[in-house]
Amino acid sequence: MNARSLREFEIAARERLDPAHYDYFAGGAGDEVTVGDNEAAFGRLRLVPRVLRGAAKLQTGVTLLGSRAAMPVLVAPTAFHRLADPEGERATARAAAATETIMIVSMAATVAIEEVAAAAPGAELWFQLYVQPDLAFTERIVRRAEAAGCKALVVTVDSPVLGVRERDLRNGFHDLPAQLACENLRDGGRVRPIVMWPELSWEHLGALRRMTALPIVLKGVTHPADARLALDHGVAAIMVSNHGGRQLDGVPATIDLLPDIAAEVGGAVPVLLDGGVRRGTDVLKALALGAAAVAVGRPVLWGLAADGERGVAGVLGLLRAEVEHALALCGCACVQDLEPDMVRVYGDRRLEPGMVRAYGDRRHEPGVVRRS
Ligand code: FNR
Repeated sequence: MNARSLREFEIAARERLDPAHYDYFAGGAGDEVTVGDNEAAFGRLRLVPRVLRGAAKLQTGVTLLGSRAAMPVLVAPTAFHRLADPEGERATARAAAATETIMIVSMAATVAIEEVAAAAPGAELWFQLYVQPDLAFTERIVRRAEAAGCKALVVTVDSPVLGVRERDLRNGFHDLPAQLACENLRDGGRVRPIVMWPELSWEHLGALRRMTALPIVLKGVTHPADARLALDHGVAAIMVSNHGGRQLDGVPATIDLLPDIAAEVGGAVPVLLDGGVRRGTDVLKALALGAAAVAVGRPVLWGLAADGERGVAGVLGLLRAEVEHALALCGCACVQDLEPDMVRVYGDRRLEPGMVRAYGDRRHEPGVVRRS
């Protein structure tokens, strides 16, 4: 496996995956407008480097909610890793440990959280939770995550009902193969189905806070007013996410939502972001605009499907190298050196008219310019 970019990992993964499973990983809701826009919006932004800052010693490490990471990129929680590789979440966790990356383990993992933790000693694990209407059951899951050593609880709130993913409908993909199960939902000898719970409200978040001492990250915030409410309800961090475009289609790209949310939060808690991060330069853009770190979902699945544990380590290593390289080229010694004024929207007009010429435009008077 000699992929030089995350895109090449996706190409390799697509060759190896069952087409229905590739579609499950790659796809999103409705017309997949938001799926596309998450990536396209990064493409509309430009980095404006600083120079002569003598930034020789690069430092990409961050500490988030007490967890150390070698870079400001986390593994986003994604379901069903054993569809991509027989070792599934064990392989992902080992790669995360090897690259000193925080992994958010999905509640819908195909390996139990205890086994994921045992497979990767030293991994910094956070646990993603869909609050279940049976709060006693929810508490049992939280206790398992705590006992397995997870350092934070990532509560996903963008899924009162499941998004409609037409690729899955077309492929008839609605369940795991018989030999696989969501092992974190095993309870009293059976695996319970994950329930999306439309009644979930801020009051339940209060109940959850009383249930556990773990810091709570609210995942799936897109409206600044909800960021404010999240602060009022004592969350430890906010994750700007549209679920990779898999829930409500037509939600703006997360990178476009970030500045307003960062302004509302005003540094009170860390703001994280996921959705469409495919390059080190994307990481820099998000950090410059106020994110403390970002997370990647699909790229990790591509690494896993392409080459198992090595593939995931490859994806994370590549991102780290790209982040370091882009930082150096931006004149930054560390991620804290990034500032909002180093990001511009492509096409915005900060220069006086007349100072910029489009390639090929005809402003020269005849005779002023000669072809040699
Ligand atoms: C997800 N995501 C997700 N989120 C979550 O909170 N719990 C989950 O179980 C899952 N499962 C899941 C499966 C698959 C196949 C994908 C692609 C995504 C959403 C995920 O955490 C994250 O928000 C997005 O994947 C980020 O976008 P990118 O990086 O995939 O563009």
